[in-house]
Amino acid sequence: MRKHIVAGNWKMNNDLAETETLLSDLKKQSKTSNAEVMISPAFTNLWHAFQSTREDDIEVIAQNMHFAENGAYTGEVSASMLKSIGVKTVILGHSERRAYYNETDASLAKKVDAALANELRVIFCFGEELKDRKAGDQEKIVASQIKNALFHLDAAAFKNIVLAYEPVWAIGTGETASPEQAQDMHAFIRKTLDGKYGVNVANTMSILYGGSVKPANAREIFSKPDVDGGLIGGASLKAEDFYAIVNAF
Ligand code: G3P
Repeated sequence: MRKHIVAGNWKMNNDLAETETLLSDLKKQSKTSNAEVMISPAFTNLWHAFQSTREDDIEVIAQNMHFAENGAYTGEVSASMLKSIGVKTVILGHSERRAYYNETDASLAKKVDAALANELRVIFCFGEELKDRKAGDQEKIVASQIKNALFHLDAAAFKNIVLAYEPVWAIGTGETASPEQAQDMHAFIRKTLDGKYGVNVANTMSILYGGSVKPANAREIFSKPDVDGGLIGGASLKAEDFYAIVNAF
């Protein structure tokens, strides 16, 4: 049985006071599904979020990390620093980091290695741009992103990896991939994993969908056989909307 996961990617939103308000609202929500719930505040609010949710069924995760253990990397945060405050999961490869900070499959492979070496679980993001989809190249692009960043790993490593398919054209646009488009890509991803690592890795891997998931569309998307949850942006900033998605299984 694959894990169902709904992770809220807060991105660069919420100062400390707004974080406290959202955490308070989230703690008032009730979970009626079997989904694992994760939230990802900005670095400045991670510790506070940890302290605040100690007694709650909410995992606090990080939005990024550097590949080095320490050193002259001004403004960066390492896996061991995240681990030292209790972080157990980190999002890597988000399209915004690829677009704005020139993160590549090769640099992400180094980050994945550093996260796994520090026993962090990785939510690895990937997805095609609109031009790729229009050209019918979405499967080629997604296969390349996964192979270049992950296929150096051995099969055992995949127990600490969650995949997140986020078509760039659906992120923050309100233009959600159709449930059928999500299912088709998730099935293709599973087939790609099967080809390299076999059916056990392919069938046990949780594959999340991200890109304009809302309370109104979550249930249909999550009903698809190869969709195991969502990576939620905008809708994760409102507690009621986020838990409407969490409970959409
Ligand atoms: O990481 C999730 C995010 O990229 C999706 O954003 O606002 O389209 O749900 P949004």
